[in-house]
Amino acid sequence: MLSKSAARAFFVGGTALCSLAFIGLTVDTIGRIPAQTHEENLTPAVIRGKNLWDESNCMGCHTLLGEGAYYAPELTRVYERRGPEFIAAMLRDPAAMYPGARRMEQYDFTDEEIADLVAFLAWVNEMDLNGFPAPPTLASAAAPSASSTSPVASGAGRPRVFEQMCVACHAIDGRGGSVGPALDGVADRVEPDFFERWLRDPAAVRPGTAMPRLPLSDAQLAELVAFLSQQHTEGAE
Ligand code: HEC
Ligand code: HEC
Repeated sequence: MLSKSAARAFFVGGTALCSLAFIGLTVDTIGRIPAQTHEENLTPAVIRGKNLWDESNCMGCHTLLGEGAYYAPELTRVYERRGPEFIAAMLRDPAAMYPGARRMEQYDFTDEEIADLVAFLAWVNEMDLNGFPAPPTLASAAAPSASSTSPVASGAGRPRVFEQMCVACHAIDGRGGSVGPALDGVADRVEPDFFERWLRDPAAVRPGTAMPRLPLSDAQLAELVAFLSQQHTEGAE
């Protein structure tokens, strides 16, 4: 049996010890935040992007770091999942990337604002979150891509723009989304001049098509036409 004074000493000592451990761990956690978030990469563009993120109420539909609403996809790793070109196209014209799907807000962002938001999402993507969000359920739930591979990280030999936009909907060599047809051997199926007309304005070629009209520069277009023209079933890559 403890005497009354021993019980009091035990209580006070135990409380003090646990409080110290709690404070110590809290300080340690806070001390890790700058490294885990890569605070040194907080450029002015990232900060402007964060402010736009708040002002535009993206969290009214999306979650970021798990916080927000559950109407639209989690965006913590969207940069890795989709890449900058896709995100920029989405912010310019949401209906283009998800034809006929639930609607994302149509904002009227300037090119600079879009670049800021992309910079912000790139920064979030670099955070060390101890494995959050758990792969790959969230990525695959976010249609249209059925692909679990990152468009940014893989795909040697393909035009960058293909890896960043087209793989969301099209597969080649078994890798990519399945919203549109796989593009293996596509050059055998169509007329040589089809690709340019198609990419400039799909609806003009096949009215009512679900392929979006994507914002492509002339250089990207030329690169894609050259790439697609080589997609013969028997031909070399
Ligand atoms: C009204 C709800 C709503 C708001 C507000 C909204 N979004 Fe979205 N967003 C969506 C939906 C829904 C999708 C899924 C695509 C679809 O079905 O249209 C989406 C998709 C996206 C995607 C592509 C995600 C992926 O995995 O393909 C990005 C990037 C994105 N939103 C960024 C933003 C940003 C940045 C903002 C704020 C500036 C924002 N969204 C505001 C509803 C919204
Ligand atoms: C949002 C989804 C989506 C994206 C992104 C997309 N496509 Fe498509 N694409 C489709 C769909 C759906 C079709 C089938 C349309 C049809 O037949 O009416 C299609 C058809 C095509 C075809 C014709 C294939 C055939 O066999 O007839 C080509 C070529 C093509 N896409 C190339 C591209 C390229 C290159 C990109 C990137 C710049 C791209 N697509 C991005 C959805 C998409």
